[in-house]
Amino acid sequence: MNIANFDPAMADIILGIESSCDDTSAAVISDRVLLSNVIASQDVHRAFGGVVPELASRAHELNIVPVVSEALARAKVDPSEISAIAFTRGPGLLGSLLVGTCFAKSLAISLEKPLVMVNHLQGHVLAGFVRQPGVPVREPSFPYLCLLVSGGNSQIVKVNSPLDFEILGQTIDDAVGEAFDKCSKMMGLGYPGGPIIDKLAKLGDPKRFSFAKPHIPGLDYSFSGVKTSLLYFVRDEMAKDPEFMEKNKEDICASFQKTLIDILMDKLVKAAKQTGIKDITIGGGVSANSGLRARVMEEGTKRGWNVFLPEFKFTTDNAAMIAIAGYFHYLAGERCPLDVAPVSRIADF
Ligand code: KG4
Repeated sequence: MNIANFDPAMADIILGIESSCDDTSAAVISDRVLLSNVIASQDVHRAFGGVVPELASRAHELNIVPVVSEALARAKVDPSEISAIAFTRGPGLLGSLLVGTCFAKSLAISLEKPLVMVNHLQGHVLAGFVRQPGVPVREPSFPYLCLLVSGGNSQIVKVNSPLDFEILGQTIDDAVGEAFDKCSKMMGLGYPGGPIIDKLAKLGDPKRFSFAKPHIPGLDYSFSGVKTSLLYFVRDEMAKDPEFMEKNKEDICASFQKTLIDILMDKLVKAAKQTGIKDITIGGGVSANSGLRARVMEEGTKRGWNVFLPEFKFTTDNAAMIAIAGYFHYLAGERCPLDVAPVSRIADF
């Protein structure tokens, strides 16, 4: 987009609201251009080693009004100028989703603005279409493949258009982010596990240890076996030497992370070969992983892919991606009835 020709008076302004897990976020976009993206993360869960749903809902209740007000203020947008309100309907934690959904509905009623519902996962998949002032536009062409990897999902999605998605493969048990988080907790490294393992892995030898890889047909994933393999390995080694974990944590993290990345990449390469698609993106919290980002780039160079890596701020949960997904739905004329209810599972969407 040529920002010089951008006329705010003609633009569609979308307020996006995200509250699916433990981040309360609001963002304002004006015809795909990001004007603000405010995220209030919830530190309260750290002490529990995982997200506590009840505490997440309460924190959303505290955060939602100031976060939305701040997003509008930073965007210098008056509520009356909003064209539509887009919100995350699911999947996610029901109590968390209820806060964002009820707030979005109330705002839509009071401002007499249309409401657009967004599937959180589609937000992750479309995050690369958020444009930023002063940043050159580089976007994948349709159809493209997105490796969607987060705390709740691991999928390969074929994106035919901003409104047409095909899931080519997905995990049959744990999500890859869950494997990072649970294994980090099991090794006593802390929460959230992904960034901690990522950091330690940079200092270790990824070839030192090997962990069991699953043999799942087609493009589906499984991560529960590798998790168990690590658990037994650490348990057995610690029985021989109680200091084993402390002495080898960098190599264990590097080897474990490499195993997860190998599993993800095997199927992504297979999907690209099967579909002949060369425009490849990644999305979701685990797409912040430095090892995964490097491997996708490496495979891309080797295989002639056009790789699109999200900026770090768009990898974890944020409302900018909800606003952009909502924008596409809004342009397509989709509107959401006021009796809509949030859904916790993707199957119910
Ligand atoms: O997308 P997200 O913020 O939330 C949902 O699950 O919807 O993803 C959170 C997940 C967590 O499992 C976290 O450990 C993981 O993303 N994560 C990472 C990294 N940063 C966040 N995993 C691996 N490496 C990272 N650098």
